[in-house]
Amino acid sequence: MDTPLIVVNFKAYEESDGERGISLARACEQVSEETGVAIIACPTPAMLGRIAHEIASPVWSQHVDAVAPGGQTGHVTAQSVRDAGALGTIINHSERRMRLADIGFVVDACKALELVTCVCTNTVDVSRAAAAFSPDYIAIEPPELIGGDISVTTADPGIVSKTVELVEAVDPSVDVLCGAGVKNANDVSKAIELGARGVLLASGVVKSPDPKRTLTDLASAI
Ligand code: G3P
Repeated sequence: MDTPLIVVNFKAYEESDGERGISLARACEQVSEETGVAIIACPTPAMLGRIAHEIASPVWSQHVDAVAPGGQTGHVTAQSVRDAGALGTIINHSERRMRLADIGFVVDACKALELVTCVCTNTVDVSRAAAAFSPDYIAIEPPELIGGDISVTTADPGIVSKTVELVEAVDPSVDVLCGAGVKNANDVSKAIELGARGVLLASGVVKSPDPKRTLTDLASAI
C-alpha cells in the first residue's frame, strides 16, 4: 500500500464478537470511503471470513501459525486466511508471540500467497531482526503501553524513530507502523512525524463509544 494506513486490531474484545464485530468493520469501511484513508480491519478469527466478504475495504488476519496445511488442529494457516478473503495478516503480536524461525516461516508462506505481512515487534533490536525477513510492515509496540491511554509516540518517541532508522538500514522497502495507546489524531500526526507510515491500534477504536467518530478523527491526521 502506497499511503499511510490505520490498522485496527479487533483482538478478542467482546465488542468484536458477532454483529458488533460487523458494525466495527462497517465503521472502518465507511470512514475509509469517506476520507480516502486506508483503514484495515483485523477481525476475530471466527468473524474473519464473514467480514472479509461483507466489507469492501481490506481485511487482515490477527495471526497466522507457522504450519503448512495438513494434519494440524486448531491452527490458522496462511492459505486459510487468504481463502477466507483476507489480504494480509499481523504476525507475532505481543499477545501472540512467535519464535524467530516461525516468524520467518509465516512471512515466506504469506509472500508466496501475496498476503501483506505486518510483523509486530517489542524493541528496536527485535525490529532490526524482523526486518531481515523483509515483511511489508514492521509495527513497533512496547508491550507495557498496549491497552493504555498514553501513546507510544508520547511515552517513547525514540523507540519509533530508532526503529524507522534501523529498519531502513536493513531493508528500505519495509515500512514501519507504531502502536500502543494510540487514541487520537494527534497521536497519528506524531507517528507520521517520527517516520512511521501509519498506526496499529485496538482499544481506542474497539472500546470507543462511537468508533466511526474516533476513526474519522484518526484519519484526519493522514
Ligand atoms: O494491536 C494493537 C495493539 O496491541 C495496541 O493496542 O489498545 O493500545 O491500541 P491498543
